[in-house]
Amino acid sequence: MESIDKVKQDAEKLAAAKEAVKLVKNNDVVGLGTGSTATFAIKELAERMKNGLQITAAASSLKTEEIASSYGIPILKLETLGSIDLSIDGADEFTESLNLIKGGGGALFREKIVASLSKFSVIVADSSKKVDTLGAFTVPVEVVPLALQYVSDQLEKAGGSGILRKREGETFVTDNGNYIIDANFGLIAEPAELAFTLNQIDGVLAHGLFIGLTSKVIMARAEEILVFE
Ligand code: A5P
Repeated sequence: MESIDKVKQDAEKLAAAKEAVKLVKNNDVVGLGTGSTATFAIKELAERMKNGLQITAAASSLKTEEIASSYGIPILKLETLGSIDLSIDGADEFTESLNLIKGGGGALFREKIVASLSKFSVIVADSSKKVDTLGAFTVPVEVVPLALQYVSDQLEKAGGSGILRKREGETFVTDNGNYIIDANFGLIAEPAELAFTLNQIDGVLAHGLFIGLTSKVIMARAEEILVFE
């Protein structure tokens, strides 16, 4: 049986997702995020499409592509897209300054491409995702496999202690064929500085610090909807 907390959290995710989907307009190219909150938004979009909304979409993971396709949402190839009108995605943590940690689901690289292509990027969140300072959630770092040891050493030099992500005892492999190191930097006082440092490490495809990529966060807290922009 689901815990009451999970039921409440899911209700918040759904409420935030519904609010975000109201922003979608006819003929928009919509960026679809990955994870449980983004999936609520995909289902809401599908509902609006039943009532006549016409959109095309870009998916931030193979899983999302599969879910969206199962609802009949037409998916465009990311590699052919020059821009996305609006994207809706979840986050693992966000601050009021709209910086995020993402990648709990392992889709950080494509999520970052989708966010970067988006004219307007909306994050949907339940109330557990808001923090004063990023960093209680570890920073996912997607690593090209042959650079694993090198990147681990560089992360340590940057002050992070990393753990190679596993799922059911096996090394987790991303949609891009890479590994993820979940790196603990403690509370991150200067996320932009850390993002810059991580960007300089050869072998890092992407990291989960999303700085300056978000236009708006829609968060539900019990019956309330709070908007940060
Ligand atoms: C996927 O890689 C992540 O960035 C998700 O967007 C993030 O983990 C939030 O997921 P939930 O909506 O499931 O909490």
